Amino acid sequence: MLAVQLNIDCNFKSFRRSGHTFIEQPSGCISMTEVKQQKILQEWRASAPYWERHASTFRVMFAPVTDALIKDAGIVKGQSVLDVAGGAGEPSLTIAETLGPKGSVTYTDAVAEMVAAAQSEAQRRGVTNISFRQCSADSLTFESASFDAVVCRLGVMFFPNPLAALREMLRVTKPGGALILVVWHKSELNPFLHLVTDVLSRYVETPPADHDAPGAFRFAEPGSLANILKEAGARDVRERLLKFRMEAPISIDEFWELRSETSGTLREKLSTLSDRQATRVAQDVKEAVREFFRGGQMSFPAQMIIVNGRKQQNHG
Ligand SMILES: C[S@@+](CC[C@H](N)C(=O)[O-])C[C@H]1O[C@@H](n2cnc3c(N)ncnc32)[C@H](O)[C@@H]1O
Repeated sequence: MLAVQLNIDCNFKSFRRSGHTFIEQPSGCISMTEVKQQKILQEWRASAPYWERHASTFRVMFAPVTDALIKDAGIVKGQSVLDVAGGAGEPSLTIAETLGPKGSVTYTDAVAEMVAAAQSEAQRRGVTNISFRQCSADSLTFESASFDAVVCRLGVMFFPNPLAALREMLRVTKPGGALILVVWHKSELNPFLHLVTDVLSRYVETPPADHDAPGAFRFAEPGSLANILKEAGARDVRERLLKFRMEAPISIDEFWELRSETSGTLREKLSTLSDRQATRVAQDVKEAVREFFRGGQMSFPAQMIIVNGRKQQNHG
């Protein structure tokens, strides 16, 4: 994770109350969950300009995921849909196009810079049936039972308290409405991600992944996210694997630019290397991924997990 400076001095006292750890600092007490949240959001804030720069490539390479999510959620013209942790604007913008002029999407993200990136992308594409709100997934600023469907693509694994966030997403879903979540399947099934981290781990010490901590593979184990969705109170919880080709018209050099810029973890690790080492990492990565590039086209096999549930008819 990117090392970030929080306004928390290690000398401040921490204490536990009602099962939560709090830290005392001059401006008052904050919970450990809040500390984690601030750290994660600072990292996303730093990533936002790069996500904006590479938004069109992400849109194309994740298009099969967006299509699957729209289909599984049963999204049709005229509905109102909430997208949580919408990043640089997808899947919100494609959903807006699917919904037509009588439907609407509400895009949310906790990071102001991501919201701004999504807004300019909407303007650029001339999408008007969309509204934007900066808010955290566990504190959605909407009335209960507001949306026909709530979606979250590649976001829930970064929330400090996924259970609280899923409860909140269910709260704003209409009774009987769908809640759809997409997460990465295991690292070894996704060479787009692991071929880069494998090379880097030869140059930078990499501690084993903590699967309970926020991160890309937190819910890579089948069933793990579905269980939390059940605990949050959803009914008819199901999950399926989505196997697809992650394709985009980019060169190996453009791939390395995208990967090394958009991941906070990679940026942090690369910043610890000498120029010579960083150049060698780039060369090694390009060699490792070469077989997935032909004729100016990237094509990786990829796997994600789609978890789908419905709000109880009598849910509060
Ligand atoms: C991997 S990006 C995914 C963006 C987009 N959904 C997509 O599929 O391209 C994760 C997003 O989660 C947002 N995020 C992280 N923690 C959040 C939270 N607690 N509440 C809302 N958004 C959050 C980040 O700002 C970032 O935009």
